[in-house]
Amino acid sequence: MSVHNQTKRVTTRVLQEMKLKGEKIAMLTAYDYSMAKIIDQAGIDCILVGDSASNVMAGHETTLPITLDQMIYHASSVIRGIQRSLVIVDLPFGTYQGNSKEALHSAIRIMKESGAHAVKMEGGSEIKESIDRILTAGIPVMGHLGLTPQSIYKFGTYVVRAKEEEEAERLLQDAKMLDEAGCFGIVLEKIPAKLAAQVAKSVSVPVIGIGAGSEVDGQVLVSHDMLGITQEFSPRFLRRYLDMGDQMINAVKQYVQDVREVDFPNDQERY
Ligand code: KIV
Repeated sequence: MSVHNQTKRVTTRVLQEMKLKGEKIAMLTAYDYSMAKIIDQAGIDCILVGDSASNVMAGHETTLPITLDQMIYHASSVIRGIQRSLVIVDLPFGTYQGNSKEALHSAIRIMKESGAHAVKMEGGSEIKESIDRILTAGIPVMGHLGLTPQSIYKFGTYVVRAKEEEEAERLLQDAKMLDEAGCFGIVLEKIPAKLAAQVAKSVSVPVIGIGAGSEVDGQVLVSHDMLGITQEFSPRFLRRYLDMGDQMINAVKQYVQDVREVDFPNDQERY
């Protein structure tokens, strides 16, 4: 029987089984109760409370400004909306790099205060000590390699990563390190599809791609992007499933018109 037909909760173990069976994993972001409830009901496997909340919810240019308290607020809202999905929360910039004690403290706060099921961290060998320490405490960790938006000022651009052999080899080694360290999954963002396929074959844990082609174990998108709420962002890897932004604008325009023309509320909509 496919794991999709079971009403049981998705766990890191279920994701591992899905990889072994060749069943693709579907992941989307959510930052609030209402969106989480809808995408959980629709059968999503994992919800990522991404630090993309910094862009999507708060309107910042990068993911850097969002704080640990803000991530905990978003994550606890998401947790109240779900029944089945595995909820993974980004450790925000500045809460885990370079200090493994602080990393553990940040991860524990997320798990305790939001009720989330796992954390995600950007980077490879440079954050190994922090990853090891968090894993030792029994907290599931998902890695994130390739384009890592928290390092945008180091890269200086959002273009495709690891096109050159040296960077590709480093990424492959980092993925193997994350696998061996005990991470339960790895996100690969905006890298050549061929390299992503090679990584997915080389590691034992599920590899979830965003702009990394189809030969990986699953896909993740920012829900506001795939629903067409964020209209200005349209990279090649993004498929829009709805023009929700346009539909919302039209609905609000109609409401404004109805109020002005005293068409709303009508006789049935009053007490
Ligand atoms: O923050 C986020 O939404 C992410 C995804 C793009 C993978 O990290």
